[in-house]
Amino acid sequence: MVDSATDANPLPRHVAVIMDGNGRWARERGEDRVFGHAHGVESVRAMVRAAGELGVEFLTLYAFSTENWSRPQEEVNALMELLVRSLAGEVEELVSQGVRLRSIGALDSLPESCRRALHDVEERTADCTGLNLILALSYSGRWEITEAIKGIVQSGIKAEAIDEKGLRQFMCMPDVPDPELLIRTSGEQRLSNFLLWQLAYSELHFTPVMWPDFREDHFRAAIHEFRGRERRFGRTGEQMHHATNAGDS
Ligand code: FPP
Repeated sequence: MVDSATDANPLPRHVAVIMDGNGRWARERGEDRVFGHAHGVESVRAMVRAAGELGVEFLTLYAFSTENWSRPQEEVNALMELLVRSLAGEVEELVSQGVRLRSIGALDSLPESCRRALHDVEERTADCTGLNLILALSYSGRWEITEAIKGIVQSGIKAEAIDEKGLRQFMCMPDVPDPELLIRTSGEQRLSNFLLWQLAYSELHFTPVMWPDFREDHFRAAIHEFRGRERRFGRTGEQMHHATNAGDS
């Protein structure tokens, strides 16, 4: 056990999650893939509650990737309907937990019903000051970087004036700190085009647990493991030790 007084890291401010394994979880039960997605919503609910209780400030969920558009149309439709239903059904609970909903991605490509539901919940939770729940929808990291470059070109900024800090201003969430921790379920160990810019220094936690089975205990275990890890950001172990002793880590 890592003792909180001696943990190497504070609680992450931002946790990103690739929710994977819904389809396999359903197939293992002889069910349709959509059955897995529906159960995955229970896990989302549990994560949002746990993140809020722990004091995590930002939780970004990869709910629908750019690549997911190439799934069978029936599954895409079912996922969109599930999203609309979940948003409408959860809004009161989100407000009561102080959760503010935000979304990133090519939102224009979502069905009208989905955009409306997102807009409605974003408006109703706009003044909430607890957890920021960020849904990535029709999102990919390369899409986001491409959009940022388009924004820079359109703004007329000179090449010499572009730096990392300036580029960040053209990304989807310039005000949100990078995730310190990425969790991916189902045993896959890939980034799958998620937050490519923001995950540069994130710690990665891969678990074999399928997303519909992922619950608060799994989340707490991931955070616990993260808090015990040494994060170097390119520095040597000796430098880290010195920085820690000097109290400036
Ligand atoms: C990946 O599992 C999961 C998705 C593509 C969708 C995740 C969406 C939800 C859990 C519902 C979202 C709802 C809200 C309210 C955010 P997969 O289908 O790729 O699983 P597989 O790898 O086993 O096929």
